[in-house]
Amino acid sequence: MFEKARKYLVGGVNAPIRAFPLIDIKPIYVKKSIGPYLTDIDNRNFISFISGWGAVILGDSYPDIINELKDRLNDGIYSGLSNEYEYLLAELIIEHAYPYHQMLRFVNSGTEANTIALRLARAITGRSKIVKFDGGYHGSIDYLLVESGSSEFGSQIPSSSGVSKRLIKDTVSLPYNDLDVLEEFFSAFGKEIAAVIVEPIQTSNLLIKATPLFLSKLRDLTKRNGCFLIFDEVSTCFRESFVGLGKDIKPDITVIGKALGGGFPIAAIVSSKEYMEVMAPVGNMSHSGVFAGHPISTFVGYKVLSLIKSIPNFYDMIKSKVDFIAKNIDSELKINYTNGMFCLYFAHKKIESSDDLDIMDIMSFIDFYKALMDEGIILSPHPLEPNYVNYSHSDNILEIFVEKVNRVLSVIRR
Ligand SMILES: Cc1ncc(COP(=O)(O)O)c(C=O)c1O
Repeated sequence: MFEKARKYLVGGVNAPIRAFPLIDIKPIYVKKSIGPYLTDIDNRNFISFISGWGAVILGDSYPDIINELKDRLNDGIYSGLSNEYEYLLAELIIEHAYPYHQMLRFVNSGTEANTIALRLARAITGRSKIVKFDGGYHGSIDYLLVESGSSEFGSQIPSSSGVSKRLIKDTVSLPYNDLDVLEEFFSAFGKEIAAVIVEPIQTSNLLIKATPLFLSKLRDLTKRNGCFLIFDEVSTCFRESFVGLGKDIKPDITVIGKALGGGFPIAAIVSSKEYMEVMAPVGNMSHSGVFAGHPISTFVGYKVLSLIKSIPNFYDMIKSKVDFIAKNIDSELKINYTNGMFCLYFAHKKIESSDDLDIMDIMSFIDFYKALMDEGIILSPHPLEPNYVNYSHSDNILEIFVEKVNRVLSVIRR
């Protein structure tokens, strides 16, 4: 399949990570994905911790959802007009997960949602500058594909070819969790900043977390300087907890995605009525999308989130699964973890800041990854990218996983 696919698809895939570039193996073309299991088109079976990159929190093909979806499809796929599940899902999200916001707009991806959130901040403030943080990922947005250069707030470095210096001239990437640089930057440029966008947990950077002090400093500085604080919760929403991570800090805008759609593509910009109504059709900030609020994505999102809400202690259960892994894997393998995600890596000590990333032993990770795959386990194919635990990872699956991890470690150590 790979040979055939790469004739028409770049590298045989539609997203680079699916080509396993670090591990240097062929892409896996999945035939079936049920619960925690995958079967590929060569009939190889795996237990997977990719979980749709976090999108399927119940595990794939959850029977109740599949049955309801089949019924729903009898009523059609897409008319192009509005549907009641847009409202029902919006109500559920605002009332039960983001009560510190009031309205939302559904879009199709985290990239689109962050783009619109930043446009909204620029529309309201009339300013241009955007602050992001090194190691943060906010999607495939030209002017956010930037890391800081060596000179202070100076030369920003595009992290992709095709991103022109002109496009990124209003973006600044600052070191994550660095209070001094943050304060210095705000005292020099605070009144030029439209928005600061931050992941409370950097999900593509070893799950490094923002310190509570860093987040409260961000809230304070953005408020005092009249600029927006945007929490990018695309990867963490409905994964770490039902209620958003901003409940104490109360960002001006929250961006959500992934688990929100139960595996279907959807994301949202969530904020106050005052800000959201700057968008068309009430206000004059342009945003539109053929598939925005798609009836199947909103239907499945509503069913999945309603089901999660009805399961007592759902997030405690997810957390206990991650805790089990953390407690039982051999200490030679390091683990960074949150309530619903974990990263495995090799290093002589735990890494808690981007400054220490260079102590990571990538070659050992590649050996470990390949050996574990031979044992029928698929992990996220890069140590910085998390694995996602879902409801279908039963105690038995987790025991098998830990046993295989420890066995593989003892073999590759020899
Ligand atoms: C924190 C964060 N923001 C934004 C995005 C982009 O989302 P999408 O791939 O749906 O465009 C991602 C994707 O992994 C993400 O992890």
